[in-house]
Amino acid sequence: MGKLLVVGNWKMNRMPSEAEPFLRQLREQMPAMQHVTVVVCPPFPSLPIAAPVLEKSPIQLGAQNMCWARGGAFTGEVSPAMLRDLYVTHVILGHSERRSHFHETLEQIAAKVRAALDNGLIPILCLGETQAEREAARQSSVVERQLISALEGLGEEQARRLVVAYEPIWAIGTGKTATPDQAQEMHATLRQLLAKHLGEETARRVRILYGGSVQAANALELFRQPDIDGGLVGGASLDANEFLAIVAHAHSCA
Ligand code: 13P
Repeated sequence: MGKLLVVGNWKMNRMPSEAEPFLRQLREQMPAMQHVTVVVCPPFPSLPIAAPVLEKSPIQLGAQNMCWARGGAFTGEVSPAMLRDLYVTHVILGHSERRSHFHETLEQIAAKVRAALDNGLIPILCLGETQAEREAARQSSVVERQLISALEGLGEEQARRLVVAYEPIWAIGTGKTATPDQAQEMHATLRQLLAKHLGEETARRVRILYGGSVQAANALELFRQPDIDGGLVGGASLDANEFLAIVAHAHSCA
């Protein structure tokens, strides 16, 4: 297995004026680690502020969304090339908040994944089931549909750069984390699906992150699971000490 990956998703939090001091603190305290990659994903207006602060640091820069189109008449959207121009390396796509509040479709998310890969960005494809779907024991079929639709048209070579984030919706922002066993079970299912559609070698290379109330207190047990390759952290990534502690747990498992 390759490196562990810890991604902070700030969602719609922090003013651009607050981003610089926060990231400076993070940069100063973040150790250089060979086997852990750390990415922070601030809102769009903070990206040009974050880029120079994180330059030559071990922290990479991610965005929280992106348009599938190259450019033109798409008011309010941001293109993959614009993100590249701001030194963004990763982009979160298909987050459940985008699927539910902004009605992003499976087709749009698949187009975004392809556009990210075509433009040299690493897509972090989010998927996960609702509480009702889990209660109806439909979680595997739900994530299968989300995963397979997003792989449409990808070659094995391209798909190796994909990152998948399993985020059960009932665990997001609720403080109710999936147990390490529940998460591992779903991650193993996702790895098998990747193997079936893209081959064993690709399935081994794709990193599968867990997201949903990851905190310093539960990160270690999650990261110890064989198919959990890191975390996508929401609320806890807004607290520098908490985020650094989560990264330290990843480091101890790498
Ligand atoms: P929380 O860590 O706040 O539960 O958010 C998870 C998430 O949605 C990250 O993308």
